Amino acid sequence: MKTFNDPKKLQRWAKAQRLAGRKIALVPTMGALHEGHLSLIAAAKKKGADEIVVSVFVNPTQFGPKEDYAQYPRDHKADAAKCRAAGATAIFFPTPANMYASDHSVWVVEDGALSGSLCGARRPGHFRGVCTVVAKLFNLAHPNFAVFGQKDYQQATIIRRMVRDLNFDLEIVVAPIVREPSGLARSSRNAYLSDDERAHALALSRTLQALKAQAAKGARPWKALQKKAWAALEKAGLRPDYVEAVNAETLAPVKTLAKGTAVLLAAYAGKTRLIDNVLM
Ligand code: PAF
Repeated sequence: MKTFNDPKKLQRWAKAQRLAGRKIALVPTMGALHEGHLSLIAAAKKKGADEIVVSVFVNPTQFGPKEDYAQYPRDHKADAAKCRAAGATAIFFPTPANMYASDHSVWVVEDGALSGSLCGARRPGHFRGVCTVVAKLFNLAHPNFAVFGQKDYQQATIIRRMVRDLNFDLEIVVAPIVREPSGLARSSRNAYLSDDERAHALALSRTLQALKAQAAKGARPWKALQKKAWAALEKAGLRPDYVEAVNAETLAPVKTLAKGTAVLLAAYAGKTRLIDNVLM
C-alpha cells in the first residue's frame, strides 16, 4: 500500500493511474477508522476499483470553534494497518498546512437548499468545509467514483448535488449504515461515550426503528410522531438536537411519514453529538 502526505505527489500518481486505464476509488475519511469505514473500502472493491485511495484528514474547516477538532481521535498507525488489511492500495495523510494555503480564499458553498436545515443549520460553515475539502480531494485523487456512508445522509446528498452542479466527472456511491450488534450506528465519535452514555445512545436507532414500523403500516402524520420520538430520546437520557422527516432526495420537510421519506436525527449523549437516520 502506498502512503502519500504530499497532495502534489498523490495527484501525479493518480493522473498516471488514470492514463494507464486504471479505475480509482476514493474513500474520504477523517480517520479513527472503524467497521463503517471498512465497509466503504469493501464497497469500492466490490465495484471493481483497481486502486482504492483512503484519505485520512481531520479537516479543520468543517469544525465550529466550540466543536471537537482538537480532541477528534487520531491514530495514523492503526488507520494504515486497517486500510492495508481491508485492501486499500493507497492512503493519503495530508496536514492542514499542505491542504490549505495560509491565504486560502476560495470555498465551495451549497446555497442552503440542502444545507440550510438539519446539521447544516446547527453547524454553521460545516458543509462549506466539507464541500471544499471533498472538491479538493476529488481534484487530487482523480477518482472514477467516491464512496460515502449513509450515516452522514445530508453530507452524501450535498456531495451528490455538488458533483452534479459542478460537473465533477465521477460517480458517488453511498454505502449503507454499519451498526454495532446493539443497533448503535458505528461512528468515530462513539469512542467519546461512557458506558452509561453508550447505553442511552441505543435510543437513537430504537426510535428510528419504531418510526419505520409506524410508516410500514401506512402514511402517518409526522408532527405527532416527531413529538413522541423527541420524548423517547429525552426519556432515554439524551438531549435531542433535531428529529426531522424529509423528502429523501430534496431534504424538504414532509408532513406525512411515508415511503420515500428519510427520518434524520441528532442528539447529545452527554457532550457527544450523535447522528443517525433511516429511509422509509
Ligand atoms: O464524513 C467525513 O468523515 C468527512 O466529512 C469527510 C467527507 C471525510 C470530509 O472531511
